Amino acid sequence: MIVTGDVLARAAELREQLRGHDYRYYVLDAPEIPDAEYDRLFQELQALEAAHSELVTPDSPTQRVGGRPLAGFTPVRHRSPMLSIHTETDTRPDGAQAFDAQIRRELGLNDEAAPVEYACELKFDGLAISLRYEHGLLTQAATRGDGETGEDVTQNVRTLKTVPLRLQGSTPEVLEVRGEAYMSHADFERYNARQRTAGLPTLVNPRNGAAGAIRQLDPAQAAKRPLSFFAYGLGEVQGWELPETHSALLDALAGFGLPVCGHRVVAQGAAGLIAFHHAVAAKRDALPFDIDGVVYKVNRLDWQRQLGFRTREPRWAVAHKFPAQEQLTVVEAIEVQVGRTGAITPVARLKPVFVGGVTVTNATLHNADEVARKDVRVGDTVIVRRAGDVIPEVVSVVLERRPAGLHPFAMPEQCPMCGSQILRPAGEAVARCMGGLYCRAQRKEAIRHFASRRALDIEGLGDKLVEQLVDREQVRSPADLYALDASMLSGLERMGGKSAENLVRALERSKTTTLERFLYALGIREVGETTARTLAAHFGALEPLLRADEARLQQISDIGPVAAAAIRAFFQEPHNRDVIASLQAAGVQWPETVVKPVAELPLAGKTIVLTGTLDSLSRDQAADRLRALGAKVAGSVSKKTDYVVAGRDAGSKLDKAHQLGIPVLDEAGLLALLDHSA
Ligand code: IVH
Repeated sequence: MIVTGDVLARAAELREQLRGHDYRYYVLDAPEIPDAEYDRLFQELQALEAAHSELVTPDSPTQRVGGRPLAGFTPVRHRSPMLSIHTETDTRPDGAQAFDAQIRRELGLNDEAAPVEYACELKFDGLAISLRYEHGLLTQAATRGDGETGEDVTQNVRTLKTVPLRLQGSTPEVLEVRGEAYMSHADFERYNARQRTAGLPTLVNPRNGAAGAIRQLDPAQAAKRPLSFFAYGLGEVQGWELPETHSALLDALAGFGLPVCGHRVVAQGAAGLIAFHHAVAAKRDALPFDIDGVVYKVNRLDWQRQLGFRTREPRWAVAHKFPAQEQLTVVEAIEVQVGRTGAITPVARLKPVFVGGVTVTNATLHNADEVARKDVRVGDTVIVRRAGDVIPEVVSVVLERRPAGLHPFAMPEQCPMCGSQILRPAGEAVARCMGGLYCRAQRKEAIRHFASRRALDIEGLGDKLVEQLVDREQVRSPADLYALDASMLSGLERMGGKSAENLVRALERSKTTTLERFLYALGIREVGETTARTLAAHFGALEPLLRADEARLQQISDIGPVAAAAIRAFFQEPHNRDVIASLQAAGVQWPETVVKPVAELPLAGKTIVLTGTLDSLSRDQAADRLRALGAKVAGSVSKKTDYVVAGRDAGSKLDKAHQLGIPVLDEAGLLALLDHSA
């Protein structure tokens, strides 16, 4: 066959590309393309070389097995080589049939009625390591390297909490355990969230996280990335009689205190393998770590010995892949989404791509810093990752595929939902829409909060009702609540005439409130009950607070720059001021308090604990009134408590008061205290 210049050039190009990707993957632990894409390039080169054997060069990436030891670690010669497994890349489960047929042929088993027994396991997606135990003590840990020689990573592996430093029970003279170091989804997400907050680079995927941690030259750095470990096989063994099957071997390893994954079965024949494949595929998303397939192993160890090896792969095992969890696609647009608390999240709209078993069209970009750090632009080719139940994310951009003329992404300055200002408080990663009371995305949350017990306490206005009122556009802001009447309400689901009337009455009642409750009800970021109370006590009325600038707000004790900025931004937003004006026009009101320094209030310095049920007012109301008189209302009784107010059915707090000899007031006593102090 004639090799054309085109074929030659393509083969050279593929070799060049694969070499670059190998370097990024094995040496830098920072691959630029997903494995699935690498496999495609690799297979294209293999196909070219198969068709034109004269193209095969000794330095072709197809002629190399495994990675290369990293300079900086002491090389470790494996006493028994670390093998790889033959991998079926076809993700359909029927590959199992061919494997079973081949095993039967090679073992000369003809009896259809006696199926071969297989140990079925998960194919963990991490880094293969070998642990050497001598007389039960961990003496060495090594990476696989090229299978013959790996790297001594003992110090780093010692930081893995699941790897025992000493085995349990009576242990062999020498036991080399082979297994996978991996990073769980939870540890991966936690690590990345921390890095993101600190503005530091994130890990591309858990496998790279694991590989990077194990091959980190500084063990202290390695320890910062929490890894786990599963044992799945053996290397050299001395002074131990092996069990008869692989499954019994894993049981024995578990007996030594080594972590062995519980998701494994012993299956009979090809049908058993296929059933296992299906079962694992169905639960893959729910697993707390990445797998890239399943592994089938002939269970009987004597048969394994009989079957032996072909170059670097055992004949008795095969790996069966699942759909890849990372793929390449193109960013068609970058939009921002507004969350229920106003958080603005940039989202990439993608050319549809099949990842991890589903078609993905959107992927989160987390926040503006992330977009900037990854420099994702509309038109870019990106790696998308979808694993477990985590939302798909853009992992990185393939810069070598970036077309000319793409512009960096800029965050919008206005909320796409309501047009209010978007603000990103200093030192925070998340930008937010400031139209809290007005923004469509935040309506349900804003109204739920407004009506909640410690805010305006609108009894009977539950979450379900809020949903309906907002969905039907009957309520767009908290002010609209006060326009509802019984006839409008009784049309709603699960709302009888009686409950409608009750709700109207509750709405009417809620109009008379306190300034601190009103401020808390507005749902201003950074303003919880305590800050609302501080603001109300300090300003005494709403108007001076509306006028206060950041500097003025920061003079108040307990109000820092972040809260000051959030308060100012909220009141400056015209949409919010409109809603506040409408609320006041609807009759929401509170007594203006004369601002007195707390120290001059009649109950200043007194700590009071409320317990049990009161008849004439709720505990929250009682607490409000006590606080208005300068008292501190505490949740538990201690020696510092001045009074315990005990209503009906008071329990342990009353007992404690008696024990400590603290004066106890009943409801009448409380009312008298409030009257006298007022
Ligand atoms: S057995 C003699 N079992 O897959 C066969 N390998 O190419 C030795 N892997 O990087 C491997 N899960 O680290 C085996 N349950 C499992 C595995 C597993 C993941 C990895 C292994 C190696 C690759 C084999």
